[in-house]
Amino acid sequence: MSPDAPLSEGTSVFDAIDLAALPHDFLWGTATSAYQIEGAVAEDGRSPSIWDTFSHTPGKTDNGDHGDIACDHYHRWRQDIDLMRRLGTNAYRLSIAWPRVMPGGDGPVNPKGLAFYDELTDALLEAGITPSVTLYHWDLPQVLQDRGGWPERATAEHFAAYASAVAERLGDRVSHWTTLNEPSCSAWIGHLEGTMAPGLTDLTAAVRASYHLLLGHGLAARAIRAAAPGAEVGIVNNLSTVFPATDRPEDEAAARRHDGHVNRWWLDPVHGRGFPADMREVYGVDLPERPGDLDVIAAPLDWLGLNYYFPATVADDPAGPAPRVRPVRRPGVPRTGMDWEVDADGIETLLLRLTHEYGARKIYVTENGSAFPDVVRADGTVDDPGRQDYLVRHLAACASAAGKGAPLAGYFAWSLLDNFEWAYGYGKRFGLVHVDYRTQARTIKGSGHRYAEIVRAHRERGPEAV
Ligand code: FCB
Repeated sequence: MSPDAPLSEGTSVFDAIDLAALPHDFLWGTATSAYQIEGAVAEDGRSPSIWDTFSHTPGKTDNGDHGDIACDHYHRWRQDIDLMRRLGTNAYRLSIAWPRVMPGGDGPVNPKGLAFYDELTDALLEAGITPSVTLYHWDLPQVLQDRGGWPERATAEHFAAYASAVAERLGDRVSHWTTLNEPSCSAWIGHLEGTMAPGLTDLTAAVRASYHLLLGHGLAARAIRAAAPGAEVGIVNNLSTVFPATDRPEDEAAARRHDGHVNRWWLDPVHGRGFPADMREVYGVDLPERPGDLDVIAAPLDWLGLNYYFPATVADDPAGPAPRVRPVRRPGVPRTGMDWEVDADGIETLLLRLTHEYGARKIYVTENGSAFPDVVRADGTVDDPGRQDYLVRHLAACASAAGKGAPLAGYFAWSLLDNFEWAYGYGKRFGLVHVDYRTQARTIKGSGHRYAEIVRAHRERGPEAV
């Protein structure tokens, strides 16, 4: 689909998306994460996470927003499953809050914490919705941060113990497991750029965190398989297509470094290729390696998760911090409410890259979506043409990649609900469902209806019916 082609509300999804290219058992899902929706931060034995600390630190989030209540999903989850049912989705990607399940970071399990996810799992299955469980979506127990956090090896070991406890409890019903969500954000944004929890700006800590996150991933993958033999285990990375700002060799080298920083550093080690040598040099930080670690990190995976939002155009920034690149704004490119470029071709390129360069056998788009200022009409309906356009364009690109051989098995729209968008607080809305934070009323937006229409169309006229 041409990026300039108009996409009006009346456009048939069949004009835009080659649904027949998607397998009949495709997972049509929505995604959320624990801290962004649950609220109930001090209930039933949950301990604080690094995001509680960070969001309650003055100046760290827009408007001082925090996740104390968020979407109150901890109390309203039945209603939220009902929304999934109304959207017609057959899968849901959720994350488990480590501080709910193991409030001490390591050590004893909190029965009430596990019970919440147990009940949620049963209710999802009863509704015909496949749960896809992420074990770590950035909410490290603060007690572990106090002991050094991800820069310390012990955190990776505790993560595996926590993963094992969850898999033992849910593994008889949950088969889709993600170890980490976007470890690059945890390491680079949390420890280098400092705009996400724990808010450090320390290259050595960031590189050590990146190493232990991936080690934790490998240890957890093993632990999940041991506890739940039928488990399908994957890791979720947010990847970007990367372009040099000009054809100057310096900018081309910068693009290569940025690709190393956001893509290769995270993909190569889990594919048995070790940490990219060029990036080790760029960081200049010794990795806390021990014999055997690389094999653990390269634990075989059943699938790869791709979170895709936007492409990156970068220029050389010789005086800047590693990886010494600076983002460049391309004029005239459409942008979302996050000021992120809209470029649906990027998702196709990345799906094909995972297929060809990394030999992926199965891929899920585990997140994709957009924030736009929504218009709540006088009759209470919510119109969001920008989000609908983004959704259809990206689904079209996914189907195109599948048609070219990418083993795409599912798509999870980010997000089911408007929610706490980390440092941006509640000002940025990604939901297919609008949340009125004063009343907690939920309203399916135009994009939610559009998604439901696409899911239905695939079911009715997709490969099974063709
Ligand atoms: C991703 C995060 C997710 C959400 C979206 C917009 O990086 O995984 O929690 O914030 O961005």
